[in-house]
Amino acid sequence: MKNIVILISGRGSNMEAIVRACADEGWPAQVSAVISNRADAQGLTFAREQGIATAVLDHKGFVSREAFDAELARRIDGFAADVVVLAGFMRILTDGFVARYEGRMVNVHPSLLPAFTGLNTHRRAIEAGCKLAGATVHFVTPTLDHGPIIAQAVVPVLAGDTPETLGARVLEREHVMYPRAVGSLVRGELRMVGGVVTHALGESQLLL
Ligand code: GAR
Repeated sequence: MKNIVILISGRGSNMEAIVRACADEGWPAQVSAVISNRADAQGLTFAREQGIATAVLDHKGFVSREAFDAELARRIDGFAADVVVLAGFMRILTDGFVARYEGRMVNVHPSLLPAFTGLNTHRRAIEAGCKLAGATVHFVTPTLDHGPIIAQAVVPVLAGDTPETLGARVLEREHVMYPRAVGSLVRGELRMVGGVVTHALGESQLLL
């Protein structure tokens, strides 16, 4: 049984989708903790209701990124994490922290990477005249919003879309893609060759 620790900063809807899929699909894993850097993160309520251990680690109480990340790692390791899932965790991570969880820490980003790293992805996709947008699940590497791509979900950009309407369309797909990708990871179905991730059951598992 693998231990999954999920890091959130806010709403936690992707975390919720992963918790539900893990239970409903009988993954060989459990979500052993949800950790937030914000005490008011809405997702903490759902996690507590599910009986999942929660922790709040407020980054404002630390003198440096290194100090925060060291304590975060201590907490994560305290839950014996095999896999670390970033689900709307809005923190830039230090290289040392990323290295500690290399190959077993994943993130979801609301764009078709490598396009639109960083913030305001939906507004930037609309302003660029993109006809397609989406989200990406990737292994976390030291460079922000980079790292081997595990899965991507694609949606159309429609006439009249606002960042909110496009974001909602993308988020709905994230809720399908992210659990599927994390499930594949904990079942050992992902392969990586030369920085490219493939799925033991075929590429259709990685594209929505
Ligand atoms: C999601 O759309 C996720 O892709 C994005 O934050 C949202 C979190 O929603 N992540 C990033 O922007 C990370 N760079 P949630 O808290 O409801 O899962």
